[in-house]
Amino acid sequence: MTSEKSQEVFVYLQLPQSQEVVTVGKLAWRPLPFDRGLGEFVYGRKYLERAAKERLPSLDPLALPLEARRFAFDKLGGLPSVIRDASPDYWGRLVIARQHRGSALTEIDYLLGSPEDRAGALSFGLSPTPPAPVRQFNRTVHLEELLAEAWRLQNEPDYVPSDRHLAAQVDGALRPGTSMGGARPKVVVEDDEGLWLAKFPAKNDMLNYPRVEHGTLLLAQAAGLATPVSRLVSVAGSDLLLVKRFDRRPVAGGYQRAMMASGLTILGAEESREASTLADGSSLWSYPVLVSRLALWSSDPTADAHELFRRMAFNTMVTNDDDHPRNHAVVNWGSGWRLSPAYDLVPTNRVAQDERFLSLDVGMQGRVASRTNLLSRCELFRLSQDQARAMLTSMESVVRRWQVYFAKAGVSDADLAQLAGAFLYPGYSRDVAS
Ligand SMILES: Nc1ncnc2c1ncn2[C@@H]1O[C@H](COP(=O)(O)OP(=O)(O)O)[C@@H](O)[C@H]1O
Ligand SMILES: [Mg+2]
Repeated sequence: MTSEKSQEVFVYLQLPQSQEVVTVGKLAWRPLPFDRGLGEFVYGRKYLERAAKERLPSLDPLALPLEARRFAFDKLGGLPSVIRDASPDYWGRLVIARQHRGSALTEIDYLLGSPEDRAGALSFGLSPTPPAPVRQFNRTVHLEELLAEAWRLQNEPDYVPSDRHLAAQVDGALRPGTSMGGARPKVVVEDDEGLWLAKFPAKNDMLNYPRVEHGTLLLAQAAGLATPVSRLVSVAGSDLLLVKRFDRRPVAGGYQRAMMASGLTILGAEESREASTLADGSSLWSYPVLVSRLALWSSDPTADAHELFRRMAFNTMVTNDDDHPRNHAVVNWGSGWRLSPAYDLVPTNRVAQDERFLSLDVGMQGRVASRTNLLSRCELFRLSQDQARAMLTSMESVVRRWQVYFAKAGVSDADLAQLAGAFLYPGYSRDVAS
């Protein structure tokens, strides 16, 4: 049940290429029946003036242009989508909900209750003036305690990660949780190179996902995708994957932050495919729609269209069918929005051999994961048929050698055998004339 209160939060932005945090505007939120909410965002007058002088960015060029008016939102719980992108998903919410011991939490409570390691450059608070940027993060040496913490959270329904409990173990240095999105257990950690997203094994995992994801990132990079640096670490007998944060840059005295928006925001879509269906029956959950709207955001639409095509093709070739809109993003370091490096790439072996489906539409045959479907709308990705074919052929030759990259990641023989059917399954090229 949602509580009945109306709430207001100030929205702060750490300016690109700077450590200065400014107040951008205010979000007023009130609950609506059936667990819905209505949010109204207004830019602050000072921000609008400064933005005009210094060419500062809007939060979202389509939904929140730099204008002195009220913007209303009744989708996504009443949050502007780009603000929802800065809020935690399943895992981060679980941590916050446990800390609040079951009291009803609103979307605004999640924004306010999450630690300051969230994706992108936004933060939130009750004061009209922004707090100083956060400089303290969990260090990689605390991963063992954090892993134990994550484990208890999954296994003990009543377990409450309290600061006091954790403080006893590590001298107050440990900050629980993370506001990063996604469903799998994770935490943000720092070492001398910068900030990393540490992805843990999860309860009920059938495969060693940290190793599998690392192998997939290596394969993706070999296939020509832009990927973040990643590495495996072993902690208390468990393998963890560290993925370098692509929205943070260490600088003297702290970090610069890139603004970030998810594919869901670019699409203007809802949380589910069904709810994102248009009157003509088509869905906004679609790569062709994503590439068209990306052109309205990107400062290099052609390069980003080609990169998005490669990602869609890669997901098709490895059966990464968890390629939903929040597993795509754009970042802005101050000189415009660009597609972020690829992330959350995980192959899945399905029983079906004839036909498999991605989360998003691929082409004329909807979500079908096949070479023909990939080629069917390639011109929308600014590629001729010949260019697209050449790209697919060269990627296929890399993906065929997937075992080389998975061996580098130390994926076990048992996991290799489990996954073999994920790569270039028979239906991928079934209807291709040879
Ligand atoms: N390397 C990264 N740098 C910055 N943000 C990231 C990075 N990888 C993922 N993210 C953000 O964190 C969220 C969760 O990560 P993801 O790998 O998708 O986890 P999950 O497997 O739980 O879905 C993503 O939706 C994205 O917003
Ligand atoms: Mg994800």
